[in-house]
Amino acid sequence: MSRPLPENLETFYLRTFGCQMNEHDSERIAGLLGGLGLRPVTEPESGDVLVYNTCSIREKADTRLRGHLGEAQRLKREKRGRLVVVAGCLAQSRREDFFAEFPFVDVLVGPQSLHDLPRLIAERLQTGRRTGSFRERTTTWSAQLPRTRRDGPSAWVQIMTGCTNYCTYCIVPYVRGPEASRPLPEILQEVRGLVAEGVREVTLLGQNVNAYGREPGFAGREDFPALLEALSGIAGLVRIRFMTSHPKDVSSRLIRAIAELPPVCEHVHLPVQSGSDRILAAMGRRYDRARYVEVVAQLREAVPGVALTTDIIVGFPSETEADFADTLSLVEEIGFDGAFTFIFSPRRGTKAAALPGRPPREVTEARMAQLVALVQAQAAERNRALLGTVQEILIEGPSKNDPAVSKGRTRTHKTVNVRGAFSPGELVKVRLETATSTSFTGTPAT
Ligand code: SAH
Ligand code: SF4
Ligand code: F3S
Repeated sequence: MSRPLPENLETFYLRTFGCQMNEHDSERIAGLLGGLGLRPVTEPESGDVLVYNTCSIREKADTRLRGHLGEAQRLKREKRGRLVVVAGCLAQSRREDFFAEFPFVDVLVGPQSLHDLPRLIAERLQTGRRTGSFRERTTTWSAQLPRTRRDGPSAWVQIMTGCTNYCTYCIVPYVRGPEASRPLPEILQEVRGLVAEGVREVTLLGQNVNAYGREPGFAGREDFPALLEALSGIAGLVRIRFMTSHPKDVSSRLIRAIAELPPVCEHVHLPVQSGSDRILAAMGRRYDRARYVEVVAQLREAVPGVALTTDIIVGFPSETEADFADTLSLVEEIGFDGAFTFIFSPRRGTKAAALPGRPPREVTEARMAQLVALVQAQAAERNRALLGTVQEILIEGPSKNDPAVSKGRTRTHKTVNVRGAFSPGELVKVRLETATSTSFTGTPAT
């Protein structure tokens, strides 16, 4: 087959920002570009096509991208014919405006339009005009696109796209379209194929996986617990993970599925966002603190040793000292294994962006520092409590610093560096010996 691209385009450089959904989209982008005959490179200087898969969840993401685009502009001047592609959520949120601000960008492609990328590149080359595609909803599921998978025994599997929750601070529903679930047989087929290639662990991806199959118009009958059950029957698949769960949609059936289905791992990422009922209501989260605490109690009762991680936003409009104290006390009360903490960032078009009363920056930063210290101390303490226990580790590969050490994860998603050169995909029983707030060291337990 002849290459569809001119001779001077041989390589691509791909840089990804944002969440795992975007990382996964990048596997598809790499697959599509590979299909055009382009080879991946790791440095922008050696890339003929420079692709930035962007995120717009917080302003910081925009600022970081600006730096990268500055470099792309310089590189483009240095080599004739070089192309710059901006993909992802920021491309979708800014659309054609983006060209006005960054005229050297050749192609824009939103997350629901990835499959248009080869056509857009061809159009740009043939017509000389900058082009973009910004579909409102997914028409081609990612599994229908080629993929270049990350190495190792783990794979991402998209089970739904979009979000229809409209939390008042969040841009995702505007850039990822409405919630839509993939039919179960398609997911099963993809996972079976991955397992046949040697994958042992899948992470099911969606903005709100426990709403799987619940949107009006879904062709199937299954819900998320039923999906977990179906996947648990696949021989050779030893671990199933999922992200993200919305607290309002955690059902007792889901808790039972986690407790009873052997491959489903004992880890739930359950973003709480705030400990104050007033702020939770203003965020439009549709649960209160008491409900969150109840869900956690049910999970801990049914799934001994379950690890819980969360997301928390600090400095939401009108957050008072008392509201923040509620967040601290909730974190104290729950005891998380880890938390991602974010300073509220107003996003254009969202309801919260127009709300008054954002605490001053110094106040928010001081609150953030206090929260981070608490979260770290708690995570370290919870990890220390596991010292001396034996855990099953799925080996991902050699540690970066020492080939005589292998890196893997527990079923609860904790990183462990274990003495010994094990193969990726091996399951090893390890006794935990030292701990920090984010990782462990250990030795094989024979
Ligand atoms: N779908 C997931 C979260 C996706 S975004 C869920 O609902 O749980 C990941 C995290 O980014 C959110 O949980 C939230 O804590 C944070 N986030 C989203 N929008 C934000 C904003 N405007 N400012 C600060 N943090 C934000
Ligand atoms: Fe954003 Fe809320 Fe949807 Fe999560 S559930 S993606 S925070 S709107
Ligand atoms: Fe993910 Fe950022 Fe988009 S968090 S869904 S890449 S806005």
